[in-house]
Amino acid sequence: MTLREDSVGVEDLVLLEPLEEESMLKNLQLRYENREIYTYIGNVLISVNPYQQLPIYGPELIAKYQECTFYELKPHIYALANMAYQSLTSRDRDQCILITGESGAGKTEASKLVMSYVAAVCGKGEQVNLVKEQLLQSNPVLEAFGNAKTIRNDNSSRFGKYMDIEFDFKGSPLGGVITNYLLEKSRVVKQLKGERNFHIFYQLLAGADAQLLKALKLERDTGGYAYLNREVSRVDGMDDASNFQSVQSAMTVIGFSEKEIRWVLEVTALVLKLGNVELSDEFQANGISASGISDGRGVQEIGEMMGLDSKELERALCSRTMATAKEKVVTALNVVQAQYARDALAKNIYSRLFNWIVNRINESIKVGTGEMKKVMGVLDIYGFEILEDNSFEQFVINYCNEKLQQVFIELTLKEEQEEYKNEGIPWKKVDYFDNGIICNLIEHNQRGILAMLDEECLRPGVVSDTTFLAKLNQLFSKHDYYESKVTQNAQRQYDHTMGLSCFRICHYAGKVTYNVNGFIDKNNDLLFRDLSQAMWKAKHPLLRSLFPEGDPKQASHKRPPTAGAQFKSSVAVLMKNLYAKNPNYIRCIKPNEHQKRGQFSWELVATQTRYLGLLENVRVRRAGYAFRQRYRPFLERYRLLSRSTWPRWNGGDREGVEKILGELTTCTSEEITFGKTKIFIKSPNTLFFLEEQRRLRIQQLATLIQKIYRGWRCRTHYQQMRKSQILISSWFRGTKQKQRYGKMKASALLIQAFVRGWKARKDYRKYFRSGAALTLSSFIYKSLAQKFLLGLKNNLPSTSVLDKKWPEAPYKCFTTANRELQLLHHQWKCKKFRDQLSPKQAELLREKLCASELFKGKKAAYPPSVPIPFHGDYVGLRGNPKLQKLASGEEGPVLMAETVRKVNRGNGKTSSRTLLLTKGHVILTDSKKSQAKTVIGLESVAGVSVTSFKDGLFGLHLSEISSVGSKGDFLLVSEHVVELLTKMYRAVLDTTQKQLPVTVAEQFSLRFKEGNVTVKVIQGPAGNASGKLSCKKKGSHGLEVTV
Ligand SMILES: Nc1ncnc2c1ncn2[C@@H]1O[C@H](COP(=O)(O)OP(=O)(O)OP(=O)(O)O)[C@@H](O)[C@H]1O
Ligand SMILES: [Mg+2]
Repeated sequence: MTLREDSVGVEDLVLLEPLEEESMLKNLQLRYENREIYTYIGNVLISVNPYQQLPIYGPELIAKYQECTFYELKPHIYALANMAYQSLTSRDRDQCILITGESGAGKTEASKLVMSYVAAVCGKGEQVNLVKEQLLQSNPVLEAFGNAKTIRNDNSSRFGKYMDIEFDFKGSPLGGVITNYLLEKSRVVKQLKGERNFHIFYQLLAGADAQLLKALKLERDTGGYAYLNREVSRVDGMDDASNFQSVQSAMTVIGFSEKEIRWVLEVTALVLKLGNVELSDEFQANGISASGISDGRGVQEIGEMMGLDSKELERALCSRTMATAKEKVVTALNVVQAQYARDALAKNIYSRLFNWIVNRINESIKVGTGEMKKVMGVLDIYGFEILEDNSFEQFVINYCNEKLQQVFIELTLKEEQEEYKNEGIPWKKVDYFDNGIICNLIEHNQRGILAMLDEECLRPGVVSDTTFLAKLNQLFSKHDYYESKVTQNAQRQYDHTMGLSCFRICHYAGKVTYNVNGFIDKNNDLLFRDLSQAMWKAKHPLLRSLFPEGDPKQASHKRPPTAGAQFKSSVAVLMKNLYAKNPNYIRCIKPNEHQKRGQFSWELVATQTRYLGLLENVRVRRAGYAFRQRYRPFLERYRLLSRSTWPRWNGGDREGVEKILGELTTCTSEEITFGKTKIFIKSPNTLFFLEEQRRLRIQQLATLIQKIYRGWRCRTHYQQMRKSQILISSWFRGTKQKQRYGKMKASALLIQAFVRGWKARKDYRKYFRSGAALTLSSFIYKSLAQKFLLGLKNNLPSTSVLDKKWPEAPYKCFTTANRELQLLHHQWKCKKFRDQLSPKQAELLREKLCASELFKGKKAAYPPSVPIPFHGDYVGLRGNPKLQKLASGEEGPVLMAETVRKVNRGNGKTSSRTLLLTKGHVILTDSKKSQAKTVIGLESVAGVSVTSFKDGLFGLHLSEISSVGSKGDFLLVSEHVVELLTKMYRAVLDTTQKQLPVTVAEQFSLRFKEGNVTVKVIQGPAGNASGKLSCKKKGSHGLEVTV
C-alpha cells in the first residue's frame, strides 16, 4: 500500500479517517471529480462510471501495471486483473472476478477491460492469438443479441453472463465456457417508453444491403415493425450499420460458417415479421369467438421463410389442442389469446436463438477435456434492481444478487475474520448483516418463495397469482423480511405504497415491492405444444433445432422444470463455481442517473454504497487492523529504516521486522501485533508514520547515493581525461620524433647516394669513351636520314611540273627537311621545264606572264585567254601588201595586227579599223584605205582603261601634249583585248622604260576635243561575249555602253 504524494484523497478507504459514510462519499466524490474513478478497499476495487473516455487504458499502462505489484501504482482495474492473473499463474489458484453494480454502473465495460488486460499479458503465438480473438470477439456478438438501450443505459446487458477463461500451466489461454442467465425476453415484444428492442434488430435493418434485406423479406424502415419501438430507433453515438458489419465479422472469427450466420439472420428476421402478424376476431358457427389472421401475405412470407405451410402456422397460432387420456380436443383461441400465443412464440424463438448462439460460441472456444487447466471466471451479471413496478424478472435478479452478496460475505468478511484466527491474533467479532436469512426466504427447498411458486404452478385446481400470494402471506406472516398488505394489516400498520396484489422483501440492499401478477405464467413459461410442434415441422434447419420438444416421438407429458426452478439451479451451479475460486471484487457505482460525465449524485451513490456494504467492508477490514502484510515484503519495504537491517540483513524476516519496529518509538505494542506470518498494524496513522519515515530515509539515501555517484563520476571522468591526455601527448611526441627521424634518414641516404655515385663515376670514368652516346646517336640519325633520302630517291614523283605529289616524312624530325626537299625538287622541275623551252616559246610565256600580272583576277576576259596562244597577226599581214607597206616604215616587226572597232565619239556608233602595233607606234587605219589614218607614238600613250567584264572595250588615253593627243582619246573594241593590251604594255615598257597604267573600272573618263566624256559600262543580260555592244549618249558628257 503506497501513499503517493500525488494521490487525490485516499486511494484505499481502509486508510480513511474518520471512517464515516460522509467522509467515504466525500472521498469518492473528490476522486471522481479529479477523474480518479478507481478506489480500493483492501483488494476490493470500487469503480465509479466516468461516462467518458479517460486516458488511463491501453498497452503502455498494461505494461506498467504488469510490472508492478498491487499497491505500487494508482488503483486500477488493471492492477486487480494483474493480481488475479498472477495469482492464477504463480499460486495456481483458480480465480473469479465478480463485477456487480446497478444497471449502467459499468460492469460490462469492466469485464471487457479485464479480458483485454488478460489477453495482452498472456502468452503469444498463432493458436493462442486465435483463442484470444475468439474470446474477445464473443463480446460484440453477445452484445448485439443480448443488449438493448434502456432508460438507464444505452447498452444495457439484458442477460447475465459468466465466462470461464481457461489457461494452460504457462498461463496461455486455451479457451473458455460462457454461461448465460435469464435473457429478458419480454423485451422482444414490448419495450418501455424511451427504450429499444435488442440491438440486432436495428443493426440488421440498418446494416444489411438491399439484396440481403430482400432475401429476408424485410424493409429498411424500422417504423414498419410492430415489435420495434417507434419513438426510439437510434441511439446517440451508436452506429447500427457498422456494428452489423462488426458482428458479422466477429461471428466469422469465432467460427460461425456462412450458412450459420445466414440462419441466425433469418430467424431474427422471422421474429420481426411475427410481430406484424395481425389477428382479428372471428366467430365460429356455435357463436364462440375465435380468431384469424387478417394479413395473409405476411404469414405467407413467414411460412416460406420457415419452410412451413402457412395454413399450419395459422392453425398453430389461432387454436389449441388439448389432449386428454381418451381424445384430443381442438379449441379456437380468441384474439387476445392468439396474440398472446404469437408473442410467446416470438419470445421463445428469440430466447432459444440466443441460447443457441451462446452454445455455438462455446462449441468454438471449448477446451479438450484431457487438458490440465486453470480457470479465471468473469461474472458480469445484472445488478440489484428496484423498479416502479417489479415483477418476476426483478424477483429472480434480486435473488441472484442476494446470493452474490452471500459470496461476498462468505469470502470477504468471513475470510477476513478467519485470517485473524489463523494468525493467532486475539479478535473481537465485528457485526455485519448476513443475508443468509433472505436467501433462505427465497430459495428454501420446501418453504421458500420459489418452492411455493412451483407448488402453485403444479397444483391441480384453480390456480392464480392471488392464490399464490395468499399462500405466501400465510407462510411468512411472521417473517422479519417479508411484508404484504395482509401482514401489515395484522400488525395494524398502514402503508399506502403497498398494493393488494403485492408482497415486499427487505433485501440486503433495500426493500422491494413485487407485484404477483404474471408470476405463475412467467414461472410456467409454457409454450403451447401446437406452436412447438409447428416449429419442429418447419424445414428451416436452425429454427427446427430450437424446438426439439415439438418432435411427436419425444413428446412427453412430463412438465418441463419451471423458470424459477431452472434459475435457482443455475444460480446454485454458479455459486458452487464461485466458492471454488479465489474471488476478486469489482464494485461498480453509477454516479448519476443521466449518463452524464462529471456529475456526482450524492444520494444515488450513498444508496449504492449502502447496499454494496462498502462501509461494512471497510470496517471489518479495519476493525482490528487497518493494515497487514507478510513479513518478507514488509521487511523489504521498510528495512532501510534501521541501521541493523540496512543495507544487509542476515536474520529471519520476522526478526528483521521486530528490529525495525523496535527502533521506532511511536510503534507501541498496542499499535502493532505480530501474527504467525504477517505483521498487523492497527491504525492507518502508524502506517502513515512509517511511510513518512521511509520517504525521509529515501531522500537521505538518495542524496547519499547521488553524492557517491557524483564523486565517482567526476573521479572516473578526471582519471579518464588524464589517461587520455597522456596517451595523446605520448602519441603526438612519438609521431613527431618519427617524422623527424624519417626526414633525417632520407637526407642521409640521399647524401650517401650522391657521394657514392660521384665516387663510382670518378672510378669508372676512365673505362668509358666520352662522346660515345653522341657518336651513337648521330650514327643512328645519319642512318635514318640515309634511309629516308634513299627511300625518297627511289620513290620520287613524276617530273611533271604540275604534279604536286610528294611522300610524307617518315619521322617528325625530317618534316622541315622534307618540305625543303619538296620545294627544291619543284624548283628543279620548273628549271628543267624552262630550260627546254625555245626563245620563242619563252617570249610567248613572258607575254602570258605579263598578261597574267595585268589582268589575272581583274578582268573576266582573262581566264578564257590563257590557253590560247598569242598569234599577233589576225588580219593576214603577209598576204596584205597594203598593210605591209604601211608597216614598212616602222622599226622592227609588227607586234599585233587586228581589226578593231572604233566607237564614234559623236553618236556612239562603231566603225571598223585595222590596228597595227609596232615597237614604236599604234597605227589605226581604215581597212579599205592604204594610208594610215592615225599613228600614235607609244610615248604619247598615257594609259588604257578596260572594264572588268568579258568585253573587248578599252579606252586609249593619250597625253595631251602629243600631236595626236590633241584630237582626243580613243574608245576601241578589240576581240583580243588581253593580248593587245599586254603587247602594248610591253612595247611601251621597251620603248619608254615606263609602265603603261592599265586601269580596270566600270566607269572611266575620256578626253575629247569637245570636252571630257564619262563612259559608264553596264553588263548586258547575256554578258555579250560576241563583242556586240550598244552605246547610248547620255547628255553631252556621258556615254553609256552596254556590253
Ligand atoms: N471505464 C469506463 N470508461 C468510460 N466509459 C465507461 C466506463 N465504464 C462504463 N462506461 C460507460 O457507461 C456505459 C454503461 O456501462 P456498462 O454497459 O458497462 O454498464 P453495465 O453495468 O453493464 O449496465 P447493465 O447492467 O445495464 O448492462 C457504457 O456504455 C460506457 O459508455
Ligand atoms: Mg452490462
